Amino acid sequence: MKLCVLKENPAVETRVAATPETVGKFVQLGFTVAVVKGAGEGAAIADDDFRGAGAAIAGHAAEAMRDADVVLAVRAPEGDFAGCKKGALLIGLLAPHADAGIVKRSAAAGLTAMAMEFMPRISRAQYMDVLSSQANLAGYKAVVDAVAFFHRAVPMMMTAAGTIAPARVFVMGAGVAGLQAIATARRLGAIVSATDVRAAAAEQVQSLGAAFIMVERDGADAETAAGYAREMGGDYKRAQAQLIAGHIRNQDIVVCTALIPGRPAPLLVSEEMVKSMRPGSVVVDLAVEQGGNCPLSRPGEIVTAHGVAIMGHANVPGRLAVDASAMLAKNLYNFVATLVDAGQGELSVDYDDELVRGVTLTRAGKIIHPQLLEARDD
Ligand code: NAI
Repeated sequence: MKLCVLKENPAVETRVAATPETVGKFVQLGFTVAVVKGAGEGAAIADDDFRGAGAAIAGHAAEAMRDADVVLAVRAPEGDFAGCKKGALLIGLLAPHADAGIVKRSAAAGLTAMAMEFMPRISRAQYMDVLSSQANLAGYKAVVDAVAFFHRAVPMMMTAAGTIAPARVFVMGAGVAGLQAIATARRLGAIVSATDVRAAAAEQVQSLGAAFIMVERDGADAETAAGYAREMGGDYKRAQAQLIAGHIRNQDIVVCTALIPGRPAPLLVSEEMVKSMRPGSVVVDLAVEQGGNCPLSRPGEIVTAHGVAIMGHANVPGRLAVDASAMLAKNLYNFVATLVDAGQGELSVDYDDELVRGVTLTRAGKIIHPQLLEARDD
C-alpha cells in the first residue's frame, strides 16, 4: 500500500495533511509513504522530520501520486491527476460545493474522492471530525486575534493608578467554535455573553460562565436532527435583530461564528449595529468565508467602519498551522486506519459503511454523493 502527502498551495494554505507522528503510524499500518518536498513548511515540519518518521521525500506531486493508493491533502489539489492510479483514494477537505471542479476531475481520473468535512457527526466518527477539530482552534484564535487588535486590556484591574473595567465579549453562535471562543474569553477575564438559535446551547454556554440570550419561540425547534441550526423565518429574524441591537451596543468584542449548513451564513450584525458600538471595538467574523454574519466583513481583510475594526481573516485554523495540522492529520489517520485490513496489509474499503458513504463523492468514474447528485438535479 502506498500513501502520499501533497504540498498545499502556500498562497491559501499553511496546514499539511500529515505529521511525522501520523507518517510513523501509517508506516506501522503497512504503508509506504511519500511526502512532497516542502509539504510541512507552513506548519514548521522539515522534510527531514518526515524522513525520520519513515517517509520518502518526492520532488513534486506527480512523482508522489504515481502508484499511490491513498492521496492525502488539506484542500482539493489542482491539476488533472494524470498518472494517478485508477481507484486511488483522494482524501481531504475537498469543499465540493465551493468548487465542483474537484469532483469532475476526480471522476474523470477514476479517483475515489472523499471529503472529510462530510463525515457524519456520530460518536464513532468523533476522532475523524475535522469540522470540530478545526473550528475549536478557530474559536480560540478569533478571541486571541480580537484581543491583539483591541486597544484596551481585557481583565478587570484594580490598581493604585485606577481601575480598568473588564471587557465585554459577545459570541454569536455557540457551536464548537463559539464555545471555545467563550472559554478563551472567560480565561482572559472578560464578561462574556452568547446567543444561538438552538435552545440546547443555553446550558453549554452557562456552564462556561457566560450569560445566554436568545429569542424565545414556540413551535418547532431551531435544531435539526443532526444538531445543526435551521434557517429562521422572518418574524424570528426581526425579533433576533432587535434583541441583538439592544445588547451589542454595550459590547467591546463580538465574535461571529453562526453558520447554517449548505446555506449562506445568517446576517446578524448590521451596519447600524456596528455604528452603535463604541469606537475601538472589534468584530471578528469567522463566518466570512460563507458570506459573513456581518455585511461589512471582507474575506482576508480587516475593515474599519464607524471606528470599529471588523476582522475577516480567511482560513483561521491555518493561522495556528502547527496545532491545526496535528489535529487534522490525526483525523485523517483515524479515518484511513478504518479502511485498512491490517491482517492482510491491504486497503479494504466498505462502501456500505455509514462513514464511507457519508464522505465519498466519486467512485469508479462516477459522482455518487447524494448531495452532489441533488445539486445537479436542481
Ligand atoms: P455550525 O458551525 O454549523 O454553526 C455554529 C453555530 O451557529 C451553531 O451552534 C448554530 O446553532 C449557530 N447559529 C446558526 N444560525 C444562527 C443564528 N441565526 N443566530 C445565532 N446562532 C446561529 O455548528 P457546529 O459548531 O459545527 O455545531 C453544530 C452542532 O453539532 C452543535 O449542536 C454541536 O454540539 C454538535 N456537534 C456534535 C458532534 C458529535 O460528534 N455528535 C461533534 C461536533 C458538534
